[in-house]
Amino acid sequence: MSTDTANGPHNGAASPHGAAPKIHAVAVGKTFPSSHGPVEALHNFSLDIYEGEFLSLVGPSGCGKSTFLRILAGLAEESSGTISIHREANPTRPLSGMVFQEYAVFPWKTVAENVAFGLHMRGVSRSERTAIAADWIDRVGLRKFARHYPHQLSGGMRQRVGIARALANDPEILLMDEPLGALDAQTRTVLQEQLLELWQEGRKTVLYVTHSIEEAVLLGDRVVLMTAHPGTNKAEFDIPLERPRSLKTTAEPEFARLSYAIWESLRDEVQRSIEEAE
Ligand SMILES: Nc1ncnc2c1ncn2[C@@H]1O[C@H](COP(=O)(O)OP(=O)(O)OP(=O)(O)O)[C@@H](O)[C@H]1O
Ligand SMILES: [Mg+2]
Repeated sequence: MSTDTANGPHNGAASPHGAAPKIHAVAVGKTFPSSHGPVEALHNFSLDIYEGEFLSLVGPSGCGKSTFLRILAGLAEESSGTISIHREANPTRPLSGMVFQEYAVFPWKTVAENVAFGLHMRGVSRSERTAIAADWIDRVGLRKFARHYPHQLSGGMRQRVGIARALANDPEILLMDEPLGALDAQTRTVLQEQLLELWQEGRKTVLYVTHSIEEAVLLGDRVVLMTAHPGTNKAEFDIPLERPRSLKTTAEPEFARLSYAIWESLRDEVQRSIEEAE
């Protein structure tokens, strides 16, 4: 099913999810100053994300996806609009954790130290953080590499370290910015399946930015599309594919139908962003 959304606020109450959204972002705008004048990165962008939802966010390069994630992570501030985040009562967990496209791991720390880093910063005791880190290192299949340094690992392994580090810290919301974007196609496919397995175990609230429509459909409960720069709401698609999913899901006719429908909706925006860049 696809719903074209107007360029206005979504109404959480009208949602099929029944509950109040975890993140309720309404008409968010962001303008950066620059030497050529102000750059509008986001324009009137609205998004609701529900507890336990895996939401895929797709849009042409430069439409403001990373900017929006950075605002949610508290690394930048919106210029207009409102964002309300429904936090846990008495939160002991961090609100958000971020996984980036480029391997944002500390090169001078071992895999185990990298994965334990957030826990360390939160003052978790050494024995507890060692145990939690070892568990996550296991789950992402890096047990033999716990004492290795990032330069001794492949790109896919380094990215798994980044994912394990974010998950070990158990944030309320995981913000993932093209986490598999720098990987070769086959490694990426394997990691997509691992991500699916990890997510299906824990059902964490995830906002996942990707340029791959197939990846967005395979992983997401919903795919939200943004227009070309400045990014605003283009359309959104529910992904009713049965869970648990695996790579086999990509062989289903419904998978192909949804992926193509999303591409049809996005095509003009991609074209526009290419023309603007020329
Ligand atoms: N700190 C900044 N100062 C000035 N302009 C910025 C800044 N950060 C982002 N922009 C501009 O805001 C717009 C959106 O950038 P953003 O990185 O959010 O896009 P994106 O959708 O993540 O793109 P991509 O898919 O290529 O990663 C771009 O035009 C970019 O040049
Ligand atoms: Mg980006």
